[in-house]
Amino acid sequence: MVKSLDPTETGRDAQRLDQNLHKRIVGQEEAIGNVVNIYQMYLAGMNSPGRPVGNFLFLGPTGSGKTRMVEATAESLLGDARAVTKIDCAEFQHSHEIAKLIGSPPGYLGHRETHPLLSQEVLNQYQTDKIKLSFVLFDEIEKASDALWNLLLGILDKATLTLGDNRRVDFSRALIFMTSNLGAGEMSALLNPGIGFSQTVPAPEKMAAKINSTGLAAARRKFTPEFMNRLDKVVVFKPLGQAELRRILDLELAIVQRRVFSNALGTPCTAPGT
Ligand SMILES: Nc1ncnc2c1ncn2[C@@H]1O[C@H](COP(=O)(O)OP(=O)(O)OP(=O)(O)O)[C@@H](O)[C@H]1O
Ligand SMILES: [Mg+2]
Repeated sequence: MVKSLDPTETGRDAQRLDQNLHKRIVGQEEAIGNVVNIYQMYLAGMNSPGRPVGNFLFLGPTGSGKTRMVEATAESLLGDARAVTKIDCAEFQHSHEIAKLIGSPPGYLGHRETHPLLSQEVLNQYQTDKIKLSFVLFDEIEKASDALWNLLLGILDKATLTLGDNRRVDFSRALIFMTSNLGAGEMSALLNPGIGFSQTVPAPEKMAAKINSTGLAAARRKFTPEFMNRLDKVVVFKPLGQAELRRILDLELAIVQRRVFSNALGTPCTAPGT
């Protein structure tokens, strides 16, 4: 029997990731769908060679789950939410701070003592026998200095980074996540319009579309086209409402409960679905 290709159909491994993410992440369906899609493409060997497995930009208000989404994906695939190499872009504003990321060139003071934060060993350290993927998170990229920005563009485009001592780091097995709060102020203004103006509240789908376009417009204003063109997906995380916050509270309480029980029993605490 000839079966036609269905791009919406996912394999068992991608389905498992989808289920695990739904157990951990509340109210961010688009983000989950995009991460699962890229993982499915990777499993099928369809991602572009010589580029990272996926380049994601996560936008949206603080506390909407951007970082949690990356951790939850690492937890589902590699068994540990901490299996993420995190770079806080605000900490690398000056050229000597960039040396912390890539190491200083031979001959410079401290060359031997500095261990670059972005070496191949650091990148590969969390890979498992089954899953040879690395997770790299660049937080608050709007604060990145020009020097860091140039490094980032090279990684996103060619999946390589040249260290201070000329060694090359290969990012072709990495999922790159970048986060930013750009446009978050405008998004909350949309949700809480000023008092005194009789405005009709738009339907939830229309509001979601407005929030999406507000985030995208803010990113396009701030970032260059060459950066935006290197992204596979830009996801705008929705501001969370009361009902979603309650579900998150339940999730967090369940985690604490499991931890307390496992401590009492002296057994290691395992996350759901891993
Ligand atoms: N959508 C969500 N699903 C599940 N948990 C969430 C979600 N959003 C937030 N949380 C909870 O709130 C905490 C803070 O969220 P997170 O660090 O992901 O926010 P963020 O969007 O990265 O914010 P910031 O822009 O300030 O970095 C998480 O550790 C998690 O416990
Ligand atoms: Mg964050």
